[in-house]
Amino acid sequence: MVLSFILLLITTYFLGFSQSQLQVGFYDSTCPNAEAVVAAIVRDAAASNPNTAPVLLRLHFHDCFVEGCEGSILIDNGLETDERQAFGHQGVGGFDIIERAKSQLEAECPGTVSCADIVALAARDAVVVAKGPFYEVETGRRDGMVSNVTLADDMPDVGDSVMSLKAKFFKKGLNEKDLVVLSAAHTIGTAACFFMGQRLYSFTPAGGSDPSINPVLLPELKSTCPEKGDVGVRLPIDRGSAETFDIQILQNIRSGFAVLQSDASLYQDQATRSVVVDSYFVPFGPSFEADFASAMVRMGRIGVHTGSQGTIRRTCAAFN
Ligand code: HEM
Ligand SMILES: *[C@@H]1O[C@H](CO)[C@@H](O)[C@H](O)[C@H]1NC(C)=O
Repeated sequence: MVLSFILLLITTYFLGFSQSQLQVGFYDSTCPNAEAVVAAIVRDAAASNPNTAPVLLRLHFHDCFVEGCEGSILIDNGLETDERQAFGHQGVGGFDIIERAKSQLEAECPGTVSCADIVALAARDAVVVAKGPFYEVETGRRDGMVSNVTLADDMPDVGDSVMSLKAKFFKKGLNEKDLVVLSAAHTIGTAACFFMGQRLYSFTPAGGSDPSINPVLLPELKSTCPEKGDVGVRLPIDRGSAETFDIQILQNIRSGFAVLQSDASLYQDQATRSVVVDSYFVPFGPSFEADFASAMVRMGRIGVHTGSQGTIRRTCAAFN
């Protein structure tokens, strides 16, 4: 009896310990201005460069999906083996903005705020800049000690089947609904023609272009991206509404106006289609903005280091 009580105490102790120790307001006493500093820097950057919000939102996703949300993508040792050089991270940016926030925070509260948290906060502030929902960001992540390009091989790819996209999200503890709702981050931003080649000119298995592309959209896409694989030319991902965070992206997916093949595929799978994409368009359906915010919070928990794990870097591009 006594023994089993002690065992129970020990298990609950360790269960509690192994759980994520992220919390909203983690820096409230150690660096009270942390969130305000990041928000101001994101707003400033966005005022001078319209690409800021999309790039920062995407950065958080790419950080979290490789080794967890621990800032590994920020490391720049100038080596080909840096994770940052991965094929799947093509076009990812915003590093300079994160580094600017970091140096201001180091001046205010040295050794306190992790780069991984700055990335998570900046993604939220990016959503707000684009007129999307404000949500509370859990903080308390610590920075990782590994940067390895091989570990990014598993990034979701624009040409992945919906089965494969689901499998990659499941592996991170996310579900089908998260896949759709987080893909709707494509409500802002642009894509390089580089990512359109297969969809427009050599769609498998039949060749030619993806038959699911609306006939109104197809000539538009082809005239912007006349050749396979141009990295220099970019097109809006959310046709007609690429600067504003809104539900238009899901409407576009429903009507064949998705630009990215991975987004379009969400409407071809029974589960992602009926359970999620359509559910936001029925009267009294769920709130897309609230669901997006809660999916972002869950994405922000992937593989985090907390407590005494990891480190707090002094600059985000280098291990201490
Ligand atoms: C489901 C798997 C996903 C795939 C296959 C995918 C693929 C892509 C591709 C190919 C681009 C164009 C990149 C470029 O040309 O620079 C892109 C852009 C973007 N992605 Fe995703 N993405 C996925 C999920 C996500 C998630 C979960 C988020 C955030 C929560 C996200 C946020 C963004 C944003 C904001 C952009 C625009 C970036 C810019 O304008 O520079 N994506 N994505
Ligand atoms: C990178 O990760 C791969 C796969 O886990 C591993 O085989 C390789 O040894 C790692 N490379 C370095 C430099 O740590």
